[in-house]
Amino acid sequence: MEIKKVGVVGCGLMGRGIAEVSARAGHDVVVSEINQELLDKGLAAINASLTTAVGRGKATEADKAAALGRIKGTIETGNFKDCDLVVEAAVENLELKKKVFADLDKICPEHAILASNSSCLSILDMAMMTKKPDKVLGMHFFNPVPVMRGLELVKTILTSDETLKAADSFGKSIGKTVFTAQDAPGFITNRLFIPFALDAIRLLEAGFATKEDIDQAIVLGLNHPMGPLTLSDYVGLDTTYFIAEAMYEEFKDPRYAPPPLLKKMVTAGQFGRKSGKGFYDYK
Ligand code: CAA
Repeated sequence: MEIKKVGVVGCGLMGRGIAEVSARAGHDVVVSEINQELLDKGLAAINASLTTAVGRGKATEADKAAALGRIKGTIETGNFKDCDLVVEAAVENLELKKKVFADLDKICPEHAILASNSSCLSILDMAMMTKKPDKVLGMHFFNPVPVMRGLELVKTILTSDETLKAADSFGKSIGKTVFTAQDAPGFITNRLFIPFALDAIRLLEAGFATKEDIDQAIVLGLNHPMGPLTLSDYVGLDTTYFIAEAMYEEFKDPRYAPPPLLKKMVTAGQFGRKSGKGFYDYK
C-alpha cells in the first residue's frame, strides 16, 4: 500500500516535526491540535524550521513554499477522513492515546495505517481500541525530527507484515533509516538510553564527578553528540522520568528505577531545556 496523505495528531515538538518532514518529502499532510492557539504556534514553528533549513542550504525557498502548501492545519479530527497514515503525537498519556485511536478508527478509511509516536507506552493497548489492530504500529521519531536520521518502528504481536512494509517504505520516503523493535516499554532506543542516562544521574548524585565532567567524558571520550545529562535536559527530565517509570513498572529491574535526584528535580519543575532549568541553566 502506498502512503500519499499523512495525518498527524498533535502539533507540539514531535508532531510538527513529523508534519514538516512528511510535507518536505511530497506528502499531503493534515496536522491537528486541540485548539487554534496551539495549532498556530505549531504551524509557526514549522515555518521557522523550514526557514532554518533554507538558511542552512538544506532546502530552497521554493521547497519551503511547496512544503507549507502541502500542510493543512486543523482543530477538527474529521479532517483525517482521507488519510492513508495517521501518526498520533499527543501527550504521553495512555488513556488519552487510547481515545485518539478509538476516534481515528471511526474516522479514517478502512485501509489507513494508524501509528503512535509514543516513546514507551503499549502500542498494543492502543491497537486494541480499533477494529483493525493489524494496521496499528509504533512510529517512534527522534527530536529534532528534521535532523535525526533514524525512525524506530514498533511491531506488536498483531501488526501485520503488510503494515510494517508500508511503514518501512514511508520511513524511507521521508529520508529516515528505519529499524524495528518489539512492543515493550522503551523499545530499543530508550531501553538502552534510559539506564545510561539514569546511571549518569546516579554518578552525579553520588558526587562521583561533576555534571560537566560526566558529559565531557561521553562527548569527548565516546564521541556522542551530547552528554547524557545534556541529552536528558534536551529530552525533558519529566519525559525521562516518565519513560523510566514505565520501564520500571513493566520490568521491575532496578536499573530502570528513577534516581531520587531526578524525581526531586521533576517535582521542583526543573524539566530541563523546556522549563529553562535542568542539570544546566537555559535562561
Ligand atoms: N531542517 C533541516 N536541517 C537542519 C535544520 C532544519 N530545521 N536545522 C539544522 N539542520 C541541519 C544542519 O544544517 C546540520 O547539517 P550538517 O550536519 O549537514 O551541517 C545538522 O542539521 C546539525 O545542525 P546544527 O549544526 O544546528 O546542530 P548541532 O551540530 O549542534 O547538532 C543536534 C544539534 C542535532 C541536536 C545534536 O546535538 C544531536 O544530535 N544531539 C542528540 C539528539 C538526540 O539524541 N535526539 C534524540 C533524543 S531521544 C528522542 O527524541 C525520543 C525519545 O524517546 C525521548
